[in-house]
Amino acid sequence: MEKKFKRTLVTTALPYANGPVHIGHLAGVYVPADIYTRYLRLKGEDVIMIGGSDEHGVPITLKAKAEGITPQDVVDRYHNIIKKSFEEFGISFDIYSRTSSAIHHRTASDFFRKLYDKGVFIEKTSEQYYDEEAHQFLADRYITGTCPHCKNERAYGDQCEACGTSLNATDLINPKSAISGSTPVLRETKHWYLPLDKYEAFLRQWILEGHKEWKPNVYGQCKSWLDMGLQPRAVSRDLDWGVPVPVEGADGKVLYVWFDAPIGYISNTKELLPDTWEKYWKDEDTKLVHFIGKDNIVFHCIVFPAMLKAEGSYILPENVPANEFLNLEGDKISTSRNWAVWLHEYLEEFPGKQDVLRYVLTANAPETKDNDFTWKDFQARNNNELVAILGNFVNRAMVLTHKYFEGKVPACGEMTEYDLKTLEDFKNVKAEMESFIESYRFREALKEAMNLARIGNKYLADTEPWKLAKTDMRRVATILNVSLQIAANLAIAFEPFLPFSACKLRGMLSMPQCDWNSLGCTTILAEGLQLGKAELLFEKIEDATIEAQIQKLLDTKKANELKNYTPNPAKTNISFEDFTKMDIRIGKILEADRVPKTSKLMKLKVDTGIDQRIVVSGIAEHYTPEEVIGRQVSILVNLEPRKLKGIESQGMILMAENADGKLVFVQPSIEVKNGAEVR
Ligand code: MF3
Ligand code: ZN
Repeated sequence: MEKKFKRTLVTTALPYANGPVHIGHLAGVYVPADIYTRYLRLKGEDVIMIGGSDEHGVPITLKAKAEGITPQDVVDRYHNIIKKSFEEFGISFDIYSRTSSAIHHRTASDFFRKLYDKGVFIEKTSEQYYDEEAHQFLADRYITGTCPHCKNERAYGDQCEACGTSLNATDLINPKSAISGSTPVLRETKHWYLPLDKYEAFLRQWILEGHKEWKPNVYGQCKSWLDMGLQPRAVSRDLDWGVPVPVEGADGKVLYVWFDAPIGYISNTKELLPDTWEKYWKDEDTKLVHFIGKDNIVFHCIVFPAMLKAEGSYILPENVPANEFLNLEGDKISTSRNWAVWLHEYLEEFPGKQDVLRYVLTANAPETKDNDFTWKDFQARNNNELVAILGNFVNRAMVLTHKYFEGKVPACGEMTEYDLKTLEDFKNVKAEMESFIESYRFREALKEAMNLARIGNKYLADTEPWKLAKTDMRRVATILNVSLQIAANLAIAFEPFLPFSACKLRGMLSMPQCDWNSLGCTTILAEGLQLGKAELLFEKIEDATIEAQIQKLLDTKKANELKNYTPNPAKTNISFEDFTKMDIRIGKILEADRVPKTSKLMKLKVDTGIDQRIVVSGIAEHYTPEEVIGRQVSILVNLEPRKLKGIESQGMILMAENADGKLVFVQPSIEVKNGAEVR
């Protein structure tokens, strides 16, 4: 028997405030959480949705250092950008707060202190790498060195990405600090550890026996962690940014970011509901659901529950519907490589199109496996689904009602078999959407909603009321009544997914409120109700718009290639004599023509000072003939002539190849006499 809960507490992973948020965040966590929450609200249930920025951790301190500002400056900047992006996308948090707030510091500190006083932690002194130039202990990620297994010289202190082995920083050969580049030294330091091993039996029982209904990806990851055996985990760090460890003699130590951040869910609930927050966190009748991405599973399914359990007065999550990752045009989204669609940029480039992105990200959500976002798919879903099906149906129903009935809902006369069958078709939508949403299958739920629009579209196409207007106005009235009732259903069904469009649609249909329980009802709009103006819900996205976005990504790729360029190693030495065998001169290009039927070759006539000669050069993909005529170039004149495409080439033009493959001329820095020797 499924348990009936009295209320739901929805939490969303707190994004790090060290950069803006992108489509991966939206698809993985915030859109699904928002759909779920809006749905419950629409059903009139007691639900709150908690969010906020995760403002601690080493990367934020490094970013601050690099920019010469304080960590607080960094998080202030990004917290505001992130918060605004979420607001504009209609992510309907009841609160979006932050972990640098006073209330969070107090809450996290008290939480730690309670566990400390209960004797939960182990205290342990160990040797860790210390950077004597930067005067700080180094997190494993900030030590690089040679992997002892595969000899990759760029392995990190926690993992070698070349061979995949997970490492301890002390395993690295020739360790270097990623902060200062200096060689770190080992120093003793004391930390507090959460003995996860002591909770292993409990976690096994609770997850592996008690939550077999969790998504396979989540359950599977938990099982593999548990099967490997849990170890004590340090919950403090040597760092000057974070929540200070509230223990005598812990100067210079803060709570580990992954200890304080999930407590942020509690702090933010407290901030929202200072008097009643406890019923959301401590009453067994509350259903706690964590929306997260797959890289957060261990923290939400194992570490945080162990913390809550150790504290003793909190409930545990009922479900953790973690998503997999969203890729972008076939590549992993990456902040450092700027390989992302940033939400604040999307909002500028596609103003008013929040729902389009929400739609595409849900229709293509990485619910069970990694998925790919492509701009072509974005365009296709907009043009072929939102515009051609949903938008088109609503628009036709509205326009026809204005045309024939002055915008008033016409009377529904006698229904035909076909009308009844159409209405029958969408009777099930409510139950099906509910079962999908409640099992976190939002793609399927959205498909159901879209199906409803398909039914409407087909109904209008089949009944063709515009053809009946001259002969049978009563029939037209019935058809439009039915169509408008379907549109009203769409306004409800899409509310959790496309809140902006649903709101606009409600406005058009004079439907001030909307209630999930009316879904499936065929008499939502009363006869005679005056409708609003017909407006377009969606508009076509042109090829040029999409090509511009693709070009932007290509530019990013190019910039990354240039950044990562490593020159080929030097060739083996040659003698000076060998060198002098080459006769390189400065010459001028007099004529240039593409070689027909080739894409690369250009036929050049060059004045070498010695003579005028023909050279065939592979530059046609990089230059037009006009661009090269008149240029001085370097030419190897004593290269044995050879035939290219039937043309004898006498010599070779010297070109430098840039990292992106572009060929550029090697030319004298000032004009010189043709025939000048290059030595
Ligand atoms: N900041 C983390 C991330 O982006 C998520 C923190 S979730 C919380 O991966 F539970 F710790 F808040
Ligand atoms: Zn390795």
